[in-house]
Amino acid sequence: MSDSWRAVDAYIAGKLLGDDDALAAALANNEANGLPPIDVSAAQGKMLFLLAQIAGARRILEIGTLGGYSTIWLARALPEDGELVTLEIEEAHARVARANLDRAGVSDRVDIRVGPASDSLAAMTGAAPFDFVFIDADKQGNAHYVAEAIRLGRSGTTIVVDNVVREGGVLDPDSGDPRIDGTRALFDMLNADARIDATAVQTVGVKKWDGFILARVR
Ligand code: SAH
Ligand code: DHB
Ligand code: MG
Repeated sequence: MSDSWRAVDAYIAGKLLGDDDALAAALANNEANGLPPIDVSAAQGKMLFLLAQIAGARRILEIGTLGGYSTIWLARALPEDGELVTLEIEEAHARVARANLDRAGVSDRVDIRVGPASDSLAAMTGAAPFDFVFIDADKQGNAHYVAEAIRLGRSGTTIVVDNVVREGGVLDPDSGDPRIDGTRALFDMLNADARIDATAVQTVGVKKWDGFILARVR
C-alpha cells in the first residue's frame, strides 16, 4: 500500500509543487551532514506555507528546526517584514539549517535559537504574539509546547502539531514509547481545554501513515 501512497505523493508534487532548487539542496545537504530524513514531506511543506498565508501570519514560531526544510516553507509565507523564530536543541542541526536558510534567501526573516525548546520558550513573553505555531520537536514535550503556544499567541493563533498518528501508534496507552505517551497527553489536554478548538487529520504518503493536529486559539 505504501508504494501507492508514495506514487500519489509524487504525482501531487509533480502537478502542484514544481521543482525547487533551494528545497532540494536543503534535503541533499541534510543527508550529506547525517541528519535523519524526518523533515515534513513536500506536500506537507506546501500545506504549512498555505496555512500560514491563509492565516495572514506575520510572526511564526517553529519548535524543532532540524535542517530547516519546514522552516524554508514557512518563511516563504511571510511578508517582507515578517519574522520566524525556530527552536532547535542540537547545535549541529542548527548549523546545517543556517546554511540551508542562507541558500534559500530567507535568513533575514529567521531567528534560530539553540537549546532545549522549553528553556527558549520560558524566556519569551507574549508581548508580540505569534500568529502561527508549528510544533515538530520531541513528542514528549507536545502538551507543554501547545500550552506555551497559547501563552505566546493570541485569539486566532493557528497551531499545527506534526506526527500525532504514527501508524496508529497513538491508540496504544501501553506502548512504552514516550513519544506516543507525549502525543496522547496532548490529546487529553486538548480534550479538556476550553481555550482552543482542535482537530486531527490523518495522512498517508512518503512519510507513511501519520497525521497532524490543527488547532486555533479561541
Ligand atoms: N521541522 C523539521 C523537522 C524537525 S525534526 C522539518 O520538517 O524540516 C525534530 C527536531 O527537533 C530535531 O532537529 C531535534 O534535534 C529537535 N529537538 C528534539 N528535542 C528538542 C527539544 N527539547 N528542544 C528543541 N528541539 C528539539
Ligand atoms: C520523527 C520525528 C519527526 O518529527 C518526524 O516527522 C518523523 C519521525 C522521529 O523522532 O522519529
Ligand atoms: Mg515531524
